[in-house]
Amino acid sequence: MDRQDIIEKTEYFVKETLSKDSTGHDWWHIHRVRNLAKRIAWHEDADIFIVELAALLHDVGDYKFFQGDEEAGAAKVRKWLSSLEISPSLIDKIMEITSQISFMHTLPDKGKGKSKKNSSTTTISKETMAVTDADRLDAMGAIGIARAFTYGGFFNRPIYDPNIKPSKSITKEEYKITEAPSINHFYEKLLKLKDMMYTKLGRKMAKRRHRFLNLYLKHFFKEWKGKM
Ligand code: ADP
Ligand code: NI
Repeated sequence: MDRQDIIEKTEYFVKETLSKDSTGHDWWHIHRVRNLAKRIAWHEDADIFIVELAALLHDVGDYKFFQGDEEAGAAKVRKWLSSLEISPSLIDKIMEITSQISFMHTLPDKGKGKSKKNSSTTTISKETMAVTDADRLDAMGAIGIARAFTYGGFFNRPIYDPNIKPSKSITKEEYKITEAPSINHFYEKLLKLKDMMYTKLGRKMAKRRHRFLNLYLKHFFKEWKGKM
């Protein structure tokens, strides 16, 4: 199987898998992350094939699809990769990316100290950096706002409730089970992403998207008070 076949087959597999999901992970998120990750990879001189394959698969094993079971998710990705005629070392590289990408893993455990700004692993490949930055950028800016309210709407969360304060130092355990209003998610995740970028292009794009998040919040609260 050549590289193009591998990508095409994987694209089909991912579309099939995500079409059964209803938690807000949709194919177009994967599509945007794939394109952006490839662009970042080009700037970083990273391996474009590895980045594309990992970007396609990055949400297939999401813990949310497996009732919180992260290992079951990883097993599904590995099973797919094993069905392709690719080397074990390539499989490991893809698995490394899909397991390191999660924002939740950067949060502190209950009762532990400060959060890690990024994944705890000391050496992170350029390919991981490209896919992670792309995934995080898609949670920011205009698209990130749309995604947050889509997610909140699906889970019946209110858009905002002034009586429920966001928890800026939210722990991993709290993040997993939070039922807070969608606006709180801006403070619990979205506004933190700017300082978590790994690459130069990621940082540049995050800056603009971050500015837009802040502008949106400014308008939101002025409108909430009837001042605008
Ligand atoms: P990703 O695929 O970018 O890793 P997630 O699986 O964590 O993202 O979530 C999908 C989308 O829903 C993201 O845009 C994320 O910011 C948003 N989201 C996740 N949790 C919440 C929440 N508690 N409230 C509102 N939006 C959320
Ligand atoms: Ni994603």
